[in-house]
Amino acid sequence: MKHLLVKIANTLTAPVKAKRFSLLKEQGLPIPIAAALSYLLNDDGGTAAVIHEIEEVREDIKKAGNQLVEILYSPKPGSSGQMTHPEIRPEPGTRLNFSMERVALTGKNKIWGSVLYLLARESKAQTILELGSCAGISAAYLSASEHCEVLHTIEGSAALSRLAQDTLEKLDRKAIVHNALFDDALDDILPQIELIDLAFIDGHHEKVATIHYWERIAPKTRPGSIIIFDDIAWSQDMRDAWLYLSKQPAFCDAADFGPIGVCICGEQSGVDETRYWDLQSLLGKQQVGQPHGWSRKEGDVVL
Ligand SMILES: C[S@@+](CC[C@H](N)C(=O)[O-])C[C@H]1O[C@@H](n2cnc3c(N)ncnc32)[C@H](O)[C@@H]1O
Repeated sequence: MKHLLVKIANTLTAPVKAKRFSLLKEQGLPIPIAAALSYLLNDDGGTAAVIHEIEEVREDIKKAGNQLVEILYSPKPGSSGQMTHPEIRPEPGTRLNFSMERVALTGKNKIWGSVLYLLARESKAQTILELGSCAGISAAYLSASEHCEVLHTIEGSAALSRLAQDTLEKLDRKAIVHNALFDDALDDILPQIELIDLAFIDGHHEKVATIHYWERIAPKTRPGSIIIFDDIAWSQDMRDAWLYLSKQPAFCDAADFGPIGVCICGEQSGVDETRYWDLQSLLGKQQVGQPHGWSRKEGDVVL
């Protein structure tokens, strides 16, 4: 059945996709999400110049080839316990060494980087927060928007945070790289920030940890803030995180792009139900991964 769904979505003709896209807009698909979807369907976002400058920097990083750099890998599902509560401080995963080439390719590719850029640009986000800088590639896409006044990005690896800093300086971005674990950096950053317009959560891909980071950020959001959850199909555990998060009453809209999930904060009162936009039916079905064979087991709590 899964395979059949993949086939159906991928074989939609261009006119059918265009018709479905118009329908979604008529139904009130929020503007930043519509811009990102239009780009994925029609390659029409005006992103060429942004892609060009960032991909040149990525190529430079790749040239360092086999040189090794430390990265924090995502921990096993369940490593933060089974339930989220305000006091947890999720333990990060193992520290591994990746080659510079691999690190350059770990960053969002030019298509999804452009989606990030369009979400930031079309929502006019001024204050942006990123969890997981790696080499600074996604931070470069997010902060390419002319509306960005400051981007805070957090990275637990000292070597990667230096690399991200270098990337963002080369591109002359208004960005601050924080070298710390997510929770420790949030302790410092959150009291300094009045409101977060856009947050990108892209590291520590474990269900309870992901929900925890959203819960930490939530008090600093406003109606219209955008929260982007990356790698929601990386594992069944992350898919479960998305299914939980996308139903939270704080969100008025939740769009499932397949690899990423995008939520928009609503008025804290008045919105009872989150509108769910299943964009996979238009973009193609994303298979859920099984890193290290991790899958849901009997007895696992689905939040
Ligand atoms: C998938 S990569 C980020 C890719 C980047 N956003 C991009 O697209 O260019 C995730 C990053 O988060 C960092 N990380 C993972 N868990 C962390 C934690 N608990 N605290 C700080 N950094 C963490 C890793 O070292 C890694 O560089």
